[in-house]
Amino acid sequence: MSIIKTEKLTYTYSQGTPFEKTAVNNVDLEIEEGELVGVIGHTGSGKSTLIQHFNGLIKPTSGRVLIDGTDIWSKDVKLRDIRFKVGLVFQYPEYQIFEDTVYKDIAFGPKNMGLDEKEIDRRVRETAELVGISPELLKKSPFELSGGQKRRVAIAGVMAMRPKVLILDEPTAGLDPRGRETILGQIKRYHDETRSTVMLVSHSMEDVARFASRILVMNKGEVLCYDTPPAVFARAEEIASVGLSVPQITKIFGFLRKRGIDIRGDVYTVEFALKTINEYLEAHGRGGLENA
Ligand SMILES: Nc1ncnc2c1ncn2[C@@H]1O[C@H](COP(=O)(O)OP(=O)(O)OP(=O)(O)O)[C@@H](O)[C@H]1O
Ligand SMILES: [Mg+2]
Repeated sequence: MSIIKTEKLTYTYSQGTPFEKTAVNNVDLEIEEGELVGVIGHTGSGKSTLIQHFNGLIKPTSGRVLIDGTDIWSKDVKLRDIRFKVGLVFQYPEYQIFEDTVYKDIAFGPKNMGLDEKEIDRRVRETAELVGISPELLKKSPFELSGGQKRRVAIAGVMAMRPKVLILDEPTAGLDPRGRETILGQIKRYHDETRSTVMLVSHSMEDVARFASRILVMNKGEVLCYDTPPAVFARAEEIASVGLSVPQITKIFGFLRKRGIDIRGDVYTVEFALKTINEYLEAHGRGGLENA
């Protein structure tokens, strides 16, 4: 059974007004437990609107959302329970920090779940460690931290609830390359250690290509494709036709193939590119590539 399922999910903002806008249109989607899903799409393609359905933050205009097989809008379901099961980290989550210590901020979610002090303490420390927040920082005010640290504290607050599904809306937005790399690595580690389902909205095809087990491509409120990275990047032209770009390295291999070089087309990370080129050279020597 899939952990997230949507059936003909449609969401229209300001319905019945001149500002009516269908942001998610008739989406059928099934996400299996344990995936690390990268969600990409042009600005305004409906990524944020889609994911806000998964913890019941917004209610479908029509269609259904099932979490773990349960329609979250059926009468006997408590949305509170869904919010513990599906943790959502908004864009710029550091703006929502309000507790006076880092410890309390990370503890807020677990406390709300009614866990005992010992378990809360264990989770706060474990999660802080995971996102690289040292024990000394726990006593500090969140407002004494750097931007990147604040972001990591806010993310830790949701991770500490150990939701079955963790969803992050552009967690690296506005950070420098090093800050982005740090957070992506920590999200990957969280996924590896918890084996839970993680969804990551991103603008970067490169990042998604490196980390995701599946990629969800949104276009104008619809799902263009939902598949493994090689399967998605094999559709490079279609991806380009909706104004998205496959990773640079994938483009280079596409170019080589167009020039008649018999090399794999499913290359989407630099590491894999190196391996592929070495294999090619071993099999064919340098001649073919030099003539391209
Ligand atoms: N509160 C709102 N009221 C009206 N329209 C909205 C609202 N929020 C989003 N929209 C519209 O719905 C569509 C989808 O927006 P959404 O924010 O889900 O896209 P997105 O893919 O997350 O974009 P981005 O990459 O810029 O974050 C857009 O056309 C947007 O203008
Ligand atoms: Mg968005």
